[in-house]
Amino acid sequence: MSQITLDLRDAACGTVSLPGSKSLSNRALLLAAIAQGQTELKGLLSSDDTAVMVQSLRSLGVSIGEAADGSTLVQGVAGKFPNRGCTDAPLVLFVGNSGLTIRTLLPVLVASLSLQAAGAAQPDGCVVLQGVARMHERPIGDLVEGLRAVGAQIDYLQAEGYPPLRLRAAVLPPIDQIAVRASTSSQFLTGLLQAAPLFACQWGMPVTVRVDGALISRPYIDLTCDMLARFGVTVTERTAGPAGDTGAEFTVCPAVLAPHDADSCVAMRAPGYLTVEGDASSASYFLAAGLVGGGPVRVTGVGQASRQGDIRFADALEKMGAQVVWGEDFIEVAARQRSPDGRPLLAAIDLDCNHIPDAAMTLVPLALYAEGSTRLRNIGSWRVKETDRIAAMATEARKFGADVEEGPDFILVHPPARLRAAAVQTYDDHRVAMSFSLLSFRHAADALDRTVTILDPGCVVKTFPDYFDIFADVCAQAVPVIAIDGPTASGKGTVAARVAEALGFHYLDSGALYRLLALKTTRLGLPYQDEPALASLATGLDIGFSQGEVWLDGEKVTEAIRAEAVGNRASEIAALPDVRRALLRRQRDFARPPGLVADGRDMGSVVFPEAQTKIFLTASVQSRAERRFKQLIDKGIPAKLEGLLADLQARDARDSSRAVAPLKYVEGSGVVFLDTTSKTIPQAVEAILQAFRSRRSD
Ligand code: DC
Repeated sequence: MSQITLDLRDAACGTVSLPGSKSLSNRALLLAAIAQGQTELKGLLSSDDTAVMVQSLRSLGVSIGEAADGSTLVQGVAGKFPNRGCTDAPLVLFVGNSGLTIRTLLPVLVASLSLQAAGAAQPDGCVVLQGVARMHERPIGDLVEGLRAVGAQIDYLQAEGYPPLRLRAAVLPPIDQIAVRASTSSQFLTGLLQAAPLFACQWGMPVTVRVDGALISRPYIDLTCDMLARFGVTVTERTAGPAGDTGAEFTVCPAVLAPHDADSCVAMRAPGYLTVEGDASSASYFLAAGLVGGGPVRVTGVGQASRQGDIRFADALEKMGAQVVWGEDFIEVAARQRSPDGRPLLAAIDLDCNHIPDAAMTLVPLALYAEGSTRLRNIGSWRVKETDRIAAMATEARKFGADVEEGPDFILVHPPARLRAAAVQTYDDHRVAMSFSLLSFRHAADALDRTVTILDPGCVVKTFPDYFDIFADVCAQAVPVIAIDGPTASGKGTVAARVAEALGFHYLDSGALYRLLALKTTRLGLPYQDEPALASLATGLDIGFSQGEVWLDGEKVTEAIRAEAVGNRASEIAALPDVRRALLRRQRDFARPPGLVADGRDMGSVVFPEAQTKIFLTASVQSRAERRFKQLIDKGIPAKLEGLLADLQARDARDSSRAVAPLKYVEGSGVVFLDTTSKTIPQAVEAILQAFRSRRSD
């Protein structure tokens, strides 16, 4: 089982640019697919949940490509999917564990197959929707009932009320109202609202979707209506219940409501361009880090105008003791009050979380830092999500020493006097994994050595593949970092170590990580081109640095990793993107108080892009070869100057021409250029210390 171990963190601050919203990405993809015309989607989330939507749409014959600038191009099919299977050979769509994908695809498929069957002599089309095992335990009965009531032919292939499902084409007769229950999931209503324009086109009249009973997670419906509006669809709401969330009716009018003509369905019109804003649920972890880690932490990509319900998570933080600043395109959080020893103070809360079902999970770890007991109410929907989230959060919070009570729709957390080290089970639930990373912040009563282990952290790919790298980055941004990049043998290692010593900072020799991996692969006889194997080796590499010595699997390898052959192999494997990604978080974790000096090739550009001081340290290739030659001879290792020169030139070329994170000095980028060809080591050290001091006093 894979795992990552987070050491205690003291602070978080800085800026995080959020990945695209999952809710908006999947809505936009589906609507763009059934619209008429092409849509260029910018800022789309790339994750497992969006991948299953993209894959399903492609299987249905929708063309989805990538533009030169990385945005996604969707060619709308005007309501009619080219591929639709048949009874003998159904089209099988795999939806993973994405509730939004299956619950929005199903009604749209019902409407699309009906629209296409309407003009045909014999209805054809048969689609099977299936997912991972947990998806087959997540209820969909309320939606299926609503659709069957208008004539849809849907069968349960396993348990009644749950996926997998088989859908057969049928011509649905006009009906002026479709009813659905949405007390288990608002996604059922979202699905019907997104399909309604197709029904309306086929039937030649606006269609009303009525909610029977209570509607939960209401803000997601506003998101759906906004997205439909971008595609020319108008939704008019009539609320019956006094609370505004019972008996609501939504009347949907398509982009073009022409008399029925099966050949020209313009239920939705492609908007041309659409930018997906950042994910407000993903923002919750960093905003929470801004409170418990002191902050300020700013997330960009969502702001005060956003309609994503989860931005209201910031209000919950405010109640817990956060200072919140709202901008057009950002939200920023810092602790409002601190204890005499500087720890942020958190207050316990009692909150109805119906409006922020996903982000509310992030309040559970915060409750463990609060003064008093925190109660989160109206969270019954947690029970039927990726896992039973109430049970999962309670079980895992208890491992840290909390006393947790749970009920059908609430959780009550009594924080412990002292947090324990724990290994968190993640239940294949991305939000469990991300939430508990927050317990790695230092608690007032924390001992020095507490760790948080996250088991199977890979589950975050569902919505946020880079989560742990970015989490490490906001923690690193709270620490002063001097990033020194430069070519091989430029003397940066010696200089960086001395700068660290002068300031009492930690030191990271990032090249040593690549060298350690190179040594390990040589010992295992792994070919360096085997990228997946190398990346997984890099993630779990057992290494240690202490007092100038380097350790691999418990063995001292300080000298062994300096061999020229190891350096050359390191340079080769360092060109592999997955290897670099695997080492990113490990490097960022070196940033600890009081500060860090890090040397390598991409310290300032990739690993610590927000470093206060960035240095490009170099020397002529001839003088670097001479220095290396002298070093080797002094150590009694035979060497040839010409050979060393040729090797250095080859490595320079490889390190600076590779596609990912190449070594490069960009003039005017704020990086200090330092040529040490005619400088002594103390002179170089002094130049860097000066650059650091002048930045600090800026
Ligand atoms: O700095 P060094 O010679 O110890 O580095 C060994 C190799 O590792 C080098 O050829 C390129 C690679 N490297 C890298 O790509 N990125 C870093 N940050 C550090 C080293």
